[in-house]
Parts: sequence; C-alpha cells; structure tokens
Amino acid sequence: MERGKFISVEGIEGVGKSTNIEVLVRRIEAAGYEVLTTHEPGGTPYAKDIRDILLNRSDEPVPEIAELLLMFAARSFNVNNAIVPALEAGTWVVCDRFTDSSRAYQGGGRGIPLEIIDSIAGWVHGDAWPDLTILLDAPVEIGMARAGTRSEPDRIEQERHDFFQRVRECYLQIAAREPGRVVVIDTTRPLGEVRADIAALVDRLTGNV
Ligand SMILES: Nc1ncnc2c1ncn2[C@@H]1O[C@H](COP(=O)(O)OP(=O)(O)O)[C@@H](O)[C@H]1O
Ligand SMILES: [Mg+2]
Repeated sequence: MERGKFISVEGIEGVGKSTNIEVLVRRIEAAGYEVLTTHEPGGTPYAKDIRDILLNRSDEPVPEIAELLLMFAARSFNVNNAIVPALEAGTWVVCDRFTDSSRAYQGGGRGIPLEIIDSIAGWVHGDAWPDLTILLDAPVEIGMARAGTRSEPDRIEQERHDFFQRVRECYLQIAAREPGRVVVIDTTRPLGEVRADIAALVDRLTGNV
C-alpha cells in the first residue's frame, strides 16, 4: 500500500486556512484518494482536551514554555493516534497547523529559541514532517480584518498586532529556509486565483499534471 501524503496548512489568523482547506480536500478526493482532515491543537479526544486548557482558560497566567510543551503534547497524540496510522493506511492527511505553528507562534511570537522547539519536534514526531506545507500569507491587517467578524477570540488570538507581525515574519523565514517543503501562497488575491494555485499544487503531488 502506498503511503498517503501529509500536507499542513499554515498562516496567521484570517489568512484563509479553513476556506482553502475545503478546496484542497475536494481536489485530493477528486483525484481518488481518501483524506483525513485534522487540526492542531486537537485531532484526537485527548488532544482536544489539551486544546481547551491551552486556549480557553484565563484563570492563571500560562508560562511560555508550558504553552509550547502543551502544544507538543497535543501534537504527540495527533501524530501517533491519528496522522501516522492514516498515512500508513494510504489515506492522505491535511492538517490545519502543525509544527511550523509552534515555531512561528511560540518561537517568532513569544521568543522561545527555535533550536529548543526543533529539538522537541524531533523528539515528538521524528522525521514525520509534512510532504508539503502550504503557507497562506497576507499582511496582519488583512488577516485581522477577515478574522474580525467571527467568534470571540481565544487566548492566543487576543495577542497584539506586533505579536502577529513577528509570527508572520517567522513563517516567511521558515519558507525561505525550506523551499522544498514550504510553498507560500499570497492570499490577498481573489479567492479564485488562490484556489487555482492550490489545485496546481495538488496536481503536482498526485502526479496529475
Ligand atoms: N483570498 C481571499 N479573499 C477574500 N476573502 C478571503 C480569502 N480567503 C479567505 N477569505 C475570507 O476570510 C475569512 C477568514 O478565512 P478563514 O478561512 O476562516 O481563515 P483562517 O482559517 O486562516 O483563520 C473568511 O470569511 C473567508 O471567506
Ligand atoms: Mg481556520
């Protein structure tokens, strides 16, 4: 059985991850593959409980390192109990956020050294990196404006503009360092154009070009 492909979708709030994951998944399914769609933090019952602790409590300050370790604890459940079993069964996996989010938010945003984050990543998921990471990119103001009208912001979404500016810059640095894995898509353009770029990426991965 051919192993499934692992795709992560990254970017700051409001850049269009949820919107474009739908397009991505439909395109992969149309090519004849099964797809597991998952998101982080979350993806399994245990990981979902950790997500609640991480994002929805406000009764005690969260030390930066605790935030990082909880993110990776949740990721460990998702990788071991959902992502890798699916890939081994030939199912493709699309994950809304993965380790690049830890690098960008806890590293770029909070200032935890990337060497620490990458060493924990090596420990938690070894070489189970995505085959492809789609970085959806837009200026912070645009993301904020688009995200603005939806539900109450969670603990991390309440951060200030300069935090998300650092997160975005860190994402772009990761893309510059790992051009073979990370593809940047400018989502300030009309949705139709973004959708066409995503379809082309899927066609490349399915060998359908
Ligand atoms: N390329 C685009 N042009 C205009 N609006 C967009 C575009 N991509 C996404 N949106 C809109 O922006 C909002 C936030 O998108 P969403 O997919 O929820 O972002 P995320 O999941 O990254 O936070 C949604 O209302 C969506 O319709
Ligand atoms: Mg979303």
